[in-house]
Amino acid sequence: MSQQDFFSQESSSTKEPASSEASSSSNSPSISVPVKEASSQIDDLRHTINLHNHRYYVLDEPSIPDAEYDRLLRELQTLEQQYPEFITPDSPTQRVGGTPLPGFTEVQHERPMLSLDNAMNAEEFKAFELRLRDRLKDDQTIEFACEPKLDGLAISLLYEQGKLVRAATRGDGVTGEDVTQNVRTIKNIPLALQGNDYPSRLEVRGEVYMPKAGFEAYNERALAEGIKPFANPRNAAAGSLRQLDSRITAKRPLEFCAYSMGVVSGDVELPDTHFGLLEKIQYWGLRINEETRVVKGLDAAQDFFIKLGAKRHSLAYEIDGIVFKVNSLALQETLGFVARAPRWAIAYKFPAVEELTQLLGVDFQVGRTGAITPVARLKPVHVAGVTVSNATLHNMDEIARLDVRIGDTVIIRRAGDVIPQVVSVVLDRRPSETIKITLPESCPVCNSHIERVEGEAVARCAGGLVCSAQRKEAIKHFASRKALDVEGLGDKLIEQLVEADLIHSFDDLFHLQLDELIALERMAEKSAQNVLKAIEKSKNTTLARFIYALGIREVGTVTANNLANHYGFLDRVMQATKDELLEISDIGDIVASHIVNFFAEEHNRSVIEQLRKAGVHWVESEPDNAKEDAPLHGQVAVITGTLSQMNREEAKAKLELLGAKVTGSVSAKTDFLVAGEKAGSKLTKAQQLDIKVYDEAAFLAFLASY
Ligand code: IVH
Repeated sequence: MSQQDFFSQESSSTKEPASSEASSSSNSPSISVPVKEASSQIDDLRHTINLHNHRYYVLDEPSIPDAEYDRLLRELQTLEQQYPEFITPDSPTQRVGGTPLPGFTEVQHERPMLSLDNAMNAEEFKAFELRLRDRLKDDQTIEFACEPKLDGLAISLLYEQGKLVRAATRGDGVTGEDVTQNVRTIKNIPLALQGNDYPSRLEVRGEVYMPKAGFEAYNERALAEGIKPFANPRNAAAGSLRQLDSRITAKRPLEFCAYSMGVVSGDVELPDTHFGLLEKIQYWGLRINEETRVVKGLDAAQDFFIKLGAKRHSLAYEIDGIVFKVNSLALQETLGFVARAPRWAIAYKFPAVEELTQLLGVDFQVGRTGAITPVARLKPVHVAGVTVSNATLHNMDEIARLDVRIGDTVIIRRAGDVIPQVVSVVLDRRPSETIKITLPESCPVCNSHIERVEGEAVARCAGGLVCSAQRKEAIKHFASRKALDVEGLGDKLIEQLVEADLIHSFDDLFHLQLDELIALERMAEKSAQNVLKAIEKSKNTTLARFIYALGIREVGTVTANNLANHYGFLDRVMQATKDELLEISDIGDIVASHIVNFFAEEHNRSVIEQLRKAGVHWVESEPDNAKEDAPLHGQVAVITGTLSQMNREEAKAKLELLGAKVTGSVSAKTDFLVAGEKAGSKLTKAQQLDIKVYDEAAFLAFLASY
């Protein structure tokens, strides 16, 4: 258990507060700790753990190893188990979620939680700044605090005497819902404030959000498990926080970022700027946004908007604009409020990333391996600064899940640079006449039939390289950077070459003539010469690149590398049986079948032959493990049981690197057996055959000796 996973995922809801391991830990308190001592030990431990939590979750600067953190936490759990009367709600052990609630209770906000006016473009933002200066009757340059507008859910946190006593949603701004139990599970929200100069009552307001990585991981899992994914990070945050069972919230990767104070009472002196307040909040242990800056005047504000806008896709969380707040609290006071929004702040929004449009039709695209992808043809719509007229629909299962039909109004989402997606259908707007989307029976490019393997979501064109679409994609892959790396042979040029009938298979690339290239549209002699030079250069390659370039299904660069390292010679890869392939790390049943099937095809073997004839070459040599001077050359090893320091794959790789051959079963040919915990029949057999056996410790020592 580590700081990272203590509160998260599976471990959080099921973990028993104090495990048996804890009592065996050398630093665990014994049952004889006197009450008074236990109480002060508990206080000390909580203090230390809270400090580490803050460093880890808020500052992102862990300062002790995970194992040490675990030890402290277990020690606290053990003490609390022995003295349950000392368990308090703010103890770091109490974050894992509790008994489900029958419903949420209402919370009246003492100070209303306001909303913000929006500026949708530069003119509106300029008008805002002008209004400010008008109202202040002053031509001075206004100082703004600029904060990213996080796309989540507004939350109020109430701390009394430094302890988190209540968390509430914004609701309608006046009445919200009590979500304390759920909020307590969010790791970067301190249950107790740091320092000692905080107000006796302090309300911190901010946004609860789900960072992009967590959102994507959640949706991936949801799709795999047949659960409805979240449409966007905002829904993810709201859906996760409005759970009656806080154990569910505890498993969601939520975070909090503070952006203002609400109620403040007690005898404390506060700074006179908004940014100053934020710094205080940060000092008391809460996260504020690290992109926040103070700028002077309209131009600097515009500049900030543009700069952060350009950077927004590289941020770990979704933002939909920038909030500009007059930094001086005195000026804020003068400006006051209108209706539900302050006059001193504005949300300057980035152009929307979700838009409504109409599905005009669906095309079916054919990929390198023949995979057929339905692509939505849309009525062009502006989304986040670009015009979108296509969006992916992934596969037929996705079309069924969305229940999307031609003629429907759909929501399009564009995130970062990824291909726009159809998020959902607006059923209210479905016209009476819509057309159902069906998979064509034959390939739209080459007319070969389309196969859909039972249980697979993807349908494929059976045409192979006969299909010009597959040919184009295969050649793009062949020439790509990680494959033969033909510089200057871009996608467009490859498409032209296939369309001009100049390339049918990979080897045609090496027979291209200068005049053929020059005859292509937009191809000057100089560029044509450069392309030919690059093609010539690419002939000198490596075995791993060549294997990858062939485009065998599921064989990426890692597998291609493993194959090259394992066999050393292409002919040996081509002759490998499925059983032999299965012995290579990372190669499972499906990949092994794809490899065997690929080389069994006569036309694939002949393409390889032609490529060699055309002069494509690489250095072939005995693989490392067959080198005669390798220390374990000629030795046969078997690994069985569970190893604690590494998994069997890693152990195998280490032995192979030393030249040993690692097989799956013990026989008279076996030289030694590595037996981890719970070794079974292989160990018995080795003992019967009088074969040398290394337990894990001996094996590690053995490896270390090389
Ligand atoms: S300030 C009086 N700052 O935007 C000011 N709001 O439309 C009230 N939001 O409900 C809010 N990031 O959920 C503020 N840095 C930020 C914000 C932010 C996101 C959200 C918040 C609020 C909504 C207002």
